[in-house]
Formats: sequence, structure tokens, C-alpha cells
Amino acid sequence: MTTVRDLQAMAGEEPITMLTAYDAVTARLVEDSGVDVVLVGDSMGNAVLGHDDTLPVTVDEMASRVGAVARGTDEALVVADMPFLSFGADEAESVWNCGRMLKEEGANAVKLESGPHTVDLTERLSNLGIPVMAHLGLTPQSVNQTGYTQQATEREEGEEILELARKHEAAGAFALVLEHVPANLAAQVTDAIDIPTIGIGAGGDCDGQVLVFTDVVGLADSSPPFAEQFGDVRSEVTDAVSDYVDAVQEGDFPGPEHSDTAEELDDLY
Ligand code: KIV
Repeated sequence: MTTVRDLQAMAGEEPITMLTAYDAVTARLVEDSGVDVVLVGDSMGNAVLGHDDTLPVTVDEMASRVGAVARGTDEALVVADMPFLSFGADEAESVWNCGRMLKEEGANAVKLESGPHTVDLTERLSNLGIPVMAHLGLTPQSVNQTGYTQQATEREEGEEILELARKHEAAGAFALVLEHVPANLAAQVTDAIDIPTIGIGAGGDCDGQVLVFTDVVGLADSSPPFAEQFGDVRSEVTDAVSDYVDAVQEGDFPGPEHSDTAEELDDLY
């Protein structure tokens, strides 16, 4: 099984791959395709639960999906993304919500959308044996304050991200996601800290990359500008489902091979 130490050993040596998954079937496919880290992202809110953003995702929804993903994987590191307001308001509740993902659902680590308010919490969780992946730059749970635009384009904001990255590393975070920030900032943060950086819309100099599953396979209704579609699963699925519909409507399915008969039941009526 991949551990947080394995990931740290990969930093600077070989690129780390992380991808989201929200159920056991997808998690198995993602792992079998060679992904190192499966993130049960709160992006499930818009990616698969039909919400406009990630804010409505609940701790119970996350727990259920984390359990499914953990059951669908053997080797990959499973990271539970803590939903909006499940952490940060009250320390004891934050610890319990995060701990539940490992204790009850089989996650190996949690991810927190980070800021000045998560430094102490990161230290507390790390001390309790709950590995924390920090997340700076665009943090979609703050969409009402920041929108979805690129973050840290001004010098002062870049300095703040660098400082927060260092503080989270010192607090015990084992890795750092950098989302939608200038590539030259991400490169400098990657140089400045020893823990792996995992970028999304942050250029090619991070220690790893993460994307959202539905963007990668072509199942998303819309994707951010920094995502890349590597396949067209939507066409495959619609072709298969419309072939099924046609076969039923035309009487071609089911065929004799799809069911059995029992002689004793002849002449019942
Ligand atoms: O929720 C998510 O999928 C994420 C990644 C995009 C980093 O936070």
C-alpha cells in the first residue's frame, strides 16, 4: 500500500499522480490505471451530485463515498477531502470529522482547504496520527469570496502563499495541493518546501498533478480552463445505452440466452 512516506520519497524523483474518484468502481479503474493517490474530492458536489458548487457536500456524504473508494482500492493512498464547515469552526468537531474518515471509512489521510485558520489544526491532526494534505491557492469552498479565478497574481498574495506553505509544512502537513496559481509561484513554493506539491492549474514544476475524474474522461458538463480531457467516455456510455434502448424497443433483447425456462411450469395457465 502507498504511504505518505512513499509519496514524500517520490517528490523530485518521479511525478506523483493523483485523481479523484467517488465510488468503488471508478476507484478500482483509477488505481488499475496506475494512479498513486485517489482523492475523494468534495468536487463530488458539482462533478457527480448535481450541485452548482462544493458547499452543500455533507460529512455523511463524504464518509459514504470515502468508504466506497477505500473498498475499491488496494494500493493507492486514499485521501478524504473534508467538506465545507466540517473543519475549522470547532477543534473537537474538526478532529472527530477528520478522524472518522480514517477510523470508520478506511481513508489514509485527509485534505483541508487551508489558510491561516488551519495551521494549528494541521498540527493537532498530525500529532493524532491523521496525515494532512494542505491545499492553497484557489480553494473552491471560498468561492463566495474569491470566485474561481486564478489566485495569487499579486506579489503580496504570492508571499502569503509561500508563508502559508512553510507554516503548514512546519505544522506537519505531508503534502500540499496548489490550485490555479501562477506556475512561477508554484515552482518557487515547490523549491522552498520539502513536502511534495501537487498542482492543478499550477504549471509543470510541482512534484505531482491532480485532476478531477469527470474532466479527464470526458464526462463533465463543463471543465475549468486548466483541465485536460484525455478520453470521451460520454460518447461510449451514450452509445452503449442507446444500443440497449434500441435492442429492447426492437425486440432483440433479451434473447433466448438471457433467461431459462422450467418445464414443470409449462401449462400453468
Ligand atoms: O475536490 C477536489 O477534487 C479537489 C481537487 C481538485 C484538488 O480539491
